[in-house]
Amino acid sequence: MLLGENGYSLDVPEIEKALRQGARTVLLCNPSNPVGRVFNHSELAELSVLVERFGARVISDEVHSPLRYGTKFVPYASVSSAAAEHSITLTSASKAWNIPGLRCAIMVLTNPADQLTWDVLPRASKGGISPLGIEASTAAFKQGQPWLNEAIKLLDVNRLAVGDYLKRAGLGGVMCMPEATYLAWFDLREFGHPDPQRYLMENAGVATTSGDEHGVGGAGFVRVNFATPQSVLLDALERMTSALRRSPTRNSS
Ligand SMILES: Cc1ncc(COP(=O)(O)O)c(C=O)c1O
Repeated sequence: MLLGENGYSLDVPEIEKALRQGARTVLLCNPSNPVGRVFNHSELAELSVLVERFGARVISDEVHSPLRYGTKFVPYASVSSAAAEHSITLTSASKAWNIPGLRCAIMVLTNPADQLTWDVLPRASKGGISPLGIEASTAAFKQGQPWLNEAIKLLDVNRLAVGDYLKRAGLGGVMCMPEATYLAWFDLREFGHPDPQRYLMENAGVATTSGDEHGVGGAGFVRVNFATPQSVLLDALERMTSALRRSPTRNSS
């Protein structure tokens, strides 16, 4: 991802470089975990033209797509017939309805060749889905929208609370408001901690996910899960922002 004045966008030149160097598949995460972007039609169309030019594939992980705050969702395979031909889409009810333990992933095949390949794969290589997971996912997609709408309302209050809190603490630049997911991606590079996750754990008593887990570009970032009661969230934010203000690098700058 690229971080510019308007937030995060796909790093198209780097993707092109990787394809030029022989990469065969782009793993697209839309909505993006961790930055919370929901890519629009023109961004996805640009990617599809690039991927098509190199004869490569896209695996589009759209697991977080039901959890959005008003931004329209465009499935990657829907942007063009070429995109449908060269992509496989993954989704699930596991995030939005919080049922990962029930094991039911969904893979959407959008070209006949992939369907043939899939059909002859041995059953064991396709992983196990549970009957309970199938029932729960069906119930979620068919009847779970009212429940999800309420959950999104609560999450949205928390999402805005994170933004407000950071702004009031003079740390507004740390986060770009996520358009989806229950995750906030904090850019803590200015504080100069070699391991900000550990710093926050030890100095604020707050567990985040280390940005390093998201690849090389994640160094200096942490991911915060805001799907928690607001009292817990505000307490965590208070402790994190005070620990960050005490950072040696920032204090001396
Ligand atoms: C983008 C994305 N895809 C897939 C997964 C895995 O989902 P599941 O727990 O349903 O296996 C996660 C879970 O963190 C995720 O964030």
